[in-house]
Amino acid sequence: MRTDSRREGPIITLDGPAGSGKSSTAKAVAKRLGFRHLDSGALYRALTLGLLRSSVEEADWENLSEQGFTNLDINLETSENGFQVLIRGKAVDSELRTPEVTDRVSFVASLPASRQSILGLQRKAGEDGGLVADGRDMGTVVFPHAELKIYLIADLEERAMRRLREMGGDSPDDLGLAQQARALDTRDRSDSQRTISPLKKAEDAIELDTTELAFEEQVQAIADLAHQLTLL
Ligand code: CDP
Repeated sequence: MRTDSRREGPIITLDGPAGSGKSSTAKAVAKRLGFRHLDSGALYRALTLGLLRSSVEEADWENLSEQGFTNLDINLETSENGFQVLIRGKAVDSELRTPEVTDRVSFVASLPASRQSILGLQRKAGEDGGLVADGRDMGTVVFPHAELKIYLIADLEERAMRRLREMGGDSPDDLGLAQQARALDTRDRSDSQRTISPLKKAEDAIELDTTELAFEEQVQAIADLAHQLTLL
């Protein structure tokens, strides 16, 4: 990974189920505190996109070694407020959130070799501190010594509604909402039930239910916690 500047400060982790608003919240908290934001889900999405672009048959993904995943050449480059994900040296953004990637990412993330291949990259992103990292195992596995750990939850229906709005649907119908809720629930089950780094609340994490909170309120709540713990 290429890094350009040193920033000091604590590591704050945000874990939780799909669509709980982790990434957007983490990004806003990082901006407010002058920290960098690491979206670890984007790395699993990049591995998945890298595989889709490769000549490896989907049926063989589960047999890939750690080196096989490393060969996909996923990297992080520091950007103004966080990290840009690169595949073979090229920036990727919206391509990471297509249905083709989303439908397969939990499977890829359940493979120990895939997780191991990007562990060092994630830890390196935190080596200078001043980081807000979001994902599923930030507080449990990647940054077990983080100074502040948050576990974000929200009701499934609210998460489905937020995800649809994020995707540009102003007034989703009941069918669309039910489909989105099912897709999120399927991914949560896969993420919680896998044997390696399952989605779970770290013992020392603070649970924050955002169902009734407006976006700005949840950002403020986390910034307040950081202040209360005199981390800043
Ligand atoms: O934004 P959303 O909640 O839809 O998902 P994401 O953060 O982009 O993560 C996509 C997928 O990557 C998750 O469903 C997990 O399967 C996997 N993931 C993981 O296993 N561990 C992480 N630290 C982050 C994501």
